[in-house]
Amino acid sequence: MSDRINILADQRIVLGVTGSIAAFKAADLASKLVQAGAVVDVIMTEAAQKFITPLTFQAVTGRPVYTDLWKSDSSDNLPTHIAHVGLAEGANLLVIAPATAHHIAKIAYGLADDLLSITALAVTCPVLVAPAMDGHMYEHSATTENIQRLRGRGILIVEPEMGRMASGMVGRGRLPEVPILLGMIRHALGREWGPLTDRRVVVTAGGTHEAIDPVRYISNHSSGKQGYAVAQAALDAGAAVTLITTPTGLPQPVGAKLIAVESASEMLDAVLEQVDGADALIMAAAVADFRPVESADQKIKKKTKGLTLELERTEDILETVGKRRLETGDPRVLVGFAAETQDLLRNAKTKLEKKNADFIVANDVSQMGAGFAIDTNIVTILGADGSVVSLPQQTKTAVAEAIIQRVAARLQTVPRRHEVSDEDESSVL
Ligand code: PMT
Repeated sequence: MSDRINILADQRIVLGVTGSIAAFKAADLASKLVQAGAVVDVIMTEAAQKFITPLTFQAVTGRPVYTDLWKSDSSDNLPTHIAHVGLAEGANLLVIAPATAHHIAKIAYGLADDLLSITALAVTCPVLVAPAMDGHMYEHSATTENIQRLRGRGILIVEPEMGRMASGMVGRGRLPEVPILLGMIRHALGREWGPLTDRRVVVTAGGTHEAIDPVRYISNHSSGKQGYAVAQAALDAGAAVTLITTPTGLPQPVGAKLIAVESASEMLDAVLEQVDGADALIMAAAVADFRPVESADQKIKKKTKGLTLELERTEDILETVGKRRLETGDPRVLVGFAAETQDLLRNAKTKLEKKNADFIVANDVSQMGAGFAIDTNIVTILGADGSVVSLPQQTKTAVAEAIIQRVAARLQTVPRRHEVSDEDESSVL
């Protein structure tokens, strides 16, 4: 399967690497970016070259590596022969990872005495800085003030992680792992260029757990893959994303605000709280239709010969939101799924109307290549405008991107009310 990631494909990323033991992670980051389809130009400081060689980056990017302010590059890789101007020109993102305390200070004060710090002044694209250093250096007021300066200038900061440092000490200062850095890069690009910038999108994912007793529950086969893919596609499109999810074991989409729930009733509460002022709600979760009337306080002993469970209906979250929005107008766009095993289109159309949704994404979960717990899906998207679009079998990522495209297009036609607040934004930024 291809590693291409649409939001990264053909993006020109300048990766600045400074002198930290974490520089080895930057080589893996560069490699993953290239595999995803990005064009990566690496600038290394002198100190960075003490930890890792330019040849490593040249090998993984297939491009020259820039190390010297005074050497002009004669290759036609850049729009001009003056390296810092050429690198800055046309860059979609400047990423500095790892960023030392020294380099952060230089950028904070606009000092420009090496190729990386000069390029940081010359770029007009967004800048993402990932500090990596000893814990005490990171917590020093000089560093925190410098980072504040960068934030104040709109530069995105990747919070370093807590953990064991190269010194053997434990502290906050570790460069996060490559998937987190990649997620932050996607988020930074999405926020700058995506069609959902300044939009707030709520997504539900996973199968709800309806408790029988403290150790047993009723659930279904949902893995959360489709819902998480929708959340990631919304992030790539630049939205502030809230992901309401049951336990799935999937990695958290970087930049999403995660709300953990278990039962249908907890999911209902979370959705009703989050949907106020939201631009879109996309209900990919497989919500249980029934739950035990009573959940035992203690584990039910197996000496009981048999067990009859009495079940009652759960609340229909999508229908509740669909009714409420007739009065509140929130969310602006409402998308439900329909998991069917027969009469796909007829059942999906009934759901579209009954739940007052803008779109229903119908999947026949008995079909090979569609439905629960696999990486692909086969869906037909029904619109309230009467449109019916059947998509071939494709990855859940591609399905998610198709849904987000429709949400973005639909939002263009609905009046805008909500402004995204700082609180809606990611906790990691
Ligand atoms: O998670 P994966 O393993 O990737 O699998 C993906 C999926 C099959 C779960 C997904 O593609 C999907 O179909 N999700 C919806 C599953 C479902 O509950 O379908 P439904 O036809 O029963 O419900 C219709 C809609 O109403 C859904 O949007 C559902 O979230 C919502 N609903 C259902 C019941 C309920 N009590 N409240 C609801 O809001």
